[in-house]
Amino acid sequence: MNKAKRKTIIAGNWKMNKTPAQAKELISTIAPLVKDADCEVIACVPFIDITAAQEAAQGTNIKIGAENCHWAESGAFTGEISAAMLADIGSEYVVIGHSERRQYFGETDETVNMRVKSALAAGLKVILCVGELKEQRLQGITPELVALQTKIALGGVTEQDMSSIIIAYEPVWAIGTGLTATAEQAQEVCKIIRDCLAELYGQAVAEATTIQYGGSMNDANAEELLGKPDVDGGLIGGASLVAEKFAAIVAAGSK
Ligand code: 13P
Repeated sequence: MNKAKRKTIIAGNWKMNKTPAQAKELISTIAPLVKDADCEVIACVPFIDITAAQEAAQGTNIKIGAENCHWAESGAFTGEISAAMLADIGSEYVVIGHSERRQYFGETDETVNMRVKSALAAGLKVILCVGELKEQRLQGITPELVALQTKIALGGVTEQDMSSIIIAYEPVWAIGTGLTATAEQAQEVCKIIRDCLAELYGQAVAEATTIQYGGSMNDANAEELLGKPDVDGGLIGGASLVAEKFAAIVAAGSK
C-alpha cells in the first residue's frame, strides 16, 4: 500500500466542550502553531460553535466541521440539525457514528448509514467512526465487527462518493481512557478496514481513502501511531482541546 496516495488528516473532535467565545479563542491559539502543517487540519466542534470557529479560522489552514447531523433533509425532529443546515453555514466536514452517539443516543449502524447518505447528498465530507467495545475485542470479533460496521455504514455509498469519506477507527475502550491501542493494534484494524474498502470498491479507492486512528491519541504517542502504513491520521478528543498538544500531533502528522 502506498501511503503517499492519500492525505494525512489530523482532526479534533471537541465533543461537548467550549462555548462559542472559547471556541474562537482556542482556534486563534491553535492557528499560528499549525500554520506550516504538511497535513490537513480540521476541528469538529459543537453546532453552536461552528460560526465562531469559522470566523477564527478564516485565512488559516484549519477547516471546521460538525460532530453529527440528522438523516432527514428537514422535518419534525425537535432539537436536531440537518446536513443541509451545516452545509449552508459553510461547515465542510461532519463526524458520523461516533461511539458516544452509539452509546448514549441510540445510534445504530443503520442510522449511521442514513446520516452518511444525507451528509453526502448535502455535499459534506464525512468522518465515519467505527470501532469495537472492550468485550468484543476480548471475544476476538474485532475484525468481523469493524468490517460489518464499515459495510453497513457505506451501504448505497458509491465509488465516486468515497472521495468524500474519511474513516476513523476508534476502539471504544481507548476513548477518553488513556488506554491507547498499540500502534500494531491500530495498524491491524486500519488494514482490515482498507481491505474491506478494496472488497467493496476496488484497490484504487482503498489506497486513496484516509483512515484515521482515534482513542487517547496524544502528543507522546502520535508519531508512532502515524508511522504505521495504514494509519493516515488521527481523530483527537481530549488532546484537541489543548492547543500545544494538538499542534504537536499535527506536527507528527506532517512528517
Ligand atoms: P480521546 O482522544 O479523548 O480519547 O477521544 C477520542 C475520540 O473519541 C475522538 O473522536
